[in-house]
Amino acid sequence: MQKLQLTLAIIKPHAVSNPVVLSFIRNILKNKFIVVKTKRVNLDTETACRFYQEHVGKFFYNRLTTFMASGCIDLHVLGHVNAIHLWRKILGPTSVYKGQFQDPYCLRGMFGISDTRNVAHGSDSEDSAEREIKFFFPEFSFYHWRLDDEEWFR
Ligand code: TYD
Ligand code: MG
Repeated sequence: MQKLQLTLAIIKPHAVSNPVVLSFIRNILKNKFIVVKTKRVNLDTETACRFYQEHVGKFFYNRLTTFMASGCIDLHVLGHVNAIHLWRKILGPTSVYKGQFQDPYCLRGMFGISDTRNVAHGSDSEDSAEREIKFFFPEFSFYHWRLDDEEWFR
């Protein structure tokens, strides 16, 4: 029995506000993952700052947190046996410019505007996925999720 892995995807404001880009992304999510939970939120800057705490002090921190609070974002908890790697692969490299050369069909390569406005976020490890999912979905129970896990494969 294969176990589902979970990851947090965040569709950034410029992608949420573009209907063509958004429906393209939603199709990918629907076809490749089990979409376990979804929520649209409009963060305040303080919450964006808390979420991106690991980047405090970096040159892009203010720009990133201001941008993430500039409009609605879509949060998705995605399930797949290899969710973390698969979603990051679909996204492509952090740098949009790099993406355009390395893998022109990755989401960041196709729809990224800058290294900050790079379409979406993806958790980078199981630990960060758990922390990030709890951050936005505090009611989500990983314990019960694991118990219910088998249901998805029936
Ligand atoms: P990071 O966690 O390094 O990238 P990823 O999203 O691929 O995991 O950085 C978090 C976000 O910070 C990134 O998606 C966009 C922003 N950022 C910049 O604006 N400029 C940069 O040079 C870097 C590295 C990140
Ligand atoms: Mg990251």
